[in-house]
Amino acid sequence: MGSCNGRFSALILISMTPPPSRVGVLISLFIMSLLLCISAPCMHSPAAALIGLSRSEKYNTDGQDPCRLSFLDTAAAAIDFGRIYHHNPAAILRPVSAEEIARFLRAIYASRALATGYRQEYLTVAAKGAGHSIHGQAQAPDGLVIEMSSLRGVRIHVADGAGGYSYADVAAGELWVDLLAEAMKLGLAPRSWTDYLYLSVGGTLSNAGISGQTFRHGPQISNVLQLDIITGTGELVTCSPAENADLFYASMGGLGQFGIITRARIILEPAPQKVKWVRALYSDFEQFTRDQELLVSMDDGAASVDYLEGFVVVNNEAMRSWSISFPTDTPLDDSVFNDAGTEILFCIEIAKYFTQSDDETADVDKVTGRIISRLSFIPGLIYSVEVPYADFLNRVRVEELNLRSRGLWDVPHPWLNMFVPRRQIQRFTTSLLKIMSPDTVKGPILVYPVKRSKWNTNMSAVIPEDKDEIFYAVGVLRSADPLCLAGSSCLNDLLSQNQQIIDVSTNANEIGNDKSEPGMGAKQYLAHHSQEWQWKNHFGSKWGIFLQRKARYDPLNILAPGQRILNRNHRA
Ligand SMILES: Cc1cc2nc3c(=O)[nH]c(=O)nc-3n(C[C@H](O)[C@H](O)[C@H](O)COP(=O)(O)OP(=O)(O)OC[C@H]3O[C@@H](n4cnc5c(N)ncnc54)[C@H](O)[C@@H]3O)c2cc1C
Ligand SMILES: *[C@@H]1O[C@H](CO)[C@@H](O)[C@H](O)[C@H]1NC(C)=O
Repeated sequence: MGSCNGRFSALILISMTPPPSRVGVLISLFIMSLLLCISAPCMHSPAAALIGLSRSEKYNTDGQDPCRLSFLDTAAAAIDFGRIYHHNPAAILRPVSAEEIARFLRAIYASRALATGYRQEYLTVAAKGAGHSIHGQAQAPDGLVIEMSSLRGVRIHVADGAGGYSYADVAAGELWVDLLAEAMKLGLAPRSWTDYLYLSVGGTLSNAGISGQTFRHGPQISNVLQLDIITGTGELVTCSPAENADLFYASMGGLGQFGIITRARIILEPAPQKVKWVRALYSDFEQFTRDQELLVSMDDGAASVDYLEGFVVVNNEAMRSWSISFPTDTPLDDSVFNDAGTEILFCIEIAKYFTQSDDETADVDKVTGRIISRLSFIPGLIYSVEVPYADFLNRVRVEELNLRSRGLWDVPHPWLNMFVPRRQIQRFTTSLLKIMSPDTVKGPILVYPVKRSKWNTNMSAVIPEDKDEIFYAVGVLRSADPLCLAGSSCLNDLLSQNQQIIDVSTNANEIGNDKSEPGMGAKQYLAHHSQEWQWKNHFGSKWGIFLQRKARYDPLNILAPGQRILNRNHRA
């Protein structure tokens, strides 16, 4: 039982650090007992015997990994989708209940009484969802990583017809794809998504969760009714817009800074069965965005699309890769670029949902026909296909499996996500394509509009501060070559291109750096900064409330250290 030995050595280490006082000893013993008593099979370790803890077998019923707190297999928690940062934690916890997480946080918070220099004082805690962050956001250097995937479960409530929503109570470690499967059994589904579904509920709600439905329903955080959260002081709080509202709003897009979400109540709607999925090509960026904005401005009702995204088709490779998940028969090849007389194309992607009744099938063709007739894409360059709803939502999985089969999934991903004010989107895209030399880009570049009014400004999520109802989500989702590992110059080149784009676009001043051009006022989504002043700049007018909420809910800065916003504190 290797990891038990690991735990034993770590305990020895902890106990050998000279405790500063009797209180310190007591508290550290208290913490150790917590560490120990959760994992029955390891109780015969000498350390446990020494301390004389009571034994409990109650968690060891599944015969699986008996060491739910492990000090040995920590390397897995030092990897994320970005493969740029790799920080090992001191330990990994696979909790069996929210209460167990709360006990750990209470113990760590209580240990603040220990003098500086004592080990416990520096302990930080990161919840890890699916680990699909880019910049180590779910890592806890020398701290404790809590694997939220051990908390699973979906409970569905069907609206009783007297008004009110259907909803799902979901353990935060659940993946969206599993929530979809459960809800579909009852003919229901969440209405706001991310492009990729193998992400955890707690992970995307800590950011925003955006996709082609966002312009219509808002981000995923706008579709949550209630949360259970464990704060940085170990308090388990149920919150909603009606109850403990401040903590509710703080946590939505809160980057894991105010508490660990253990349960979320997600709005469900009747699930459509099929999707009419359309892509149309443009050679002119202005026309492309004009049509996107036209689509967004259509009524929310039957006359509008249910999904709208768009992307830049920078080269033949991008053209080929789109056909992997978009199963149209129409062949698309390099000649499209020649025919269009351009090196870069722009593609609008829309979807209209429907059920399979004959009426609706005929109707969806009519409605999409009407919508399409108002668009000004390159004549003839429009493609459409009908697929089951779940396949449409799960479309990125097809690309994942393809990339995996070619060894191109587990590579570094220097992704950049930005929210760009509407009036700056052309300028932004021009700068982007200038900085990145498009022909070398491997991976999609998404560009699509969303509506400000669908975001709740009380929430922590940061969006541009201008007043325009529309702003753009831009995702530059590049893969590095498999050999461009963390620290290599080829990866650093890609990262510094990203930084250049951030530098030219996030300045909000009327006069930019070169004293001639005004700043663009863009904001990073899934932001990554390492300096406090950069975060201050990022949060902008929300910095004050961010600090207030941090002091209220996580005064020792224990939570989500991988975001690198505030350093661990010693005293509240
Ligand atoms: C292939 C791919 C496609 C993507 N597509 C989209 C997209 O279309 N739209 C979009 O919005 N995003 C997208 N993302 C980004 C994704 O939403 C974020 O990376 C998100 O953080 C991933 O969720 P996760 O469960 O992996 O989170 P993790 O990486 O595990 O965690 C992210 C952050 O949240 C914290 N956290 C995790 N769980 C909790 C919890 N229960 N309570 C409190 N804090 C918690 C962590 O400590 C960390 O700081 C995509 C990512 C990938 C890799
Ligand atoms: C923001 O929060 C305040 C205080 O809780 C509340 O009165 C107000 O309705 C909230 N606004 C929105 C848009 O939710």
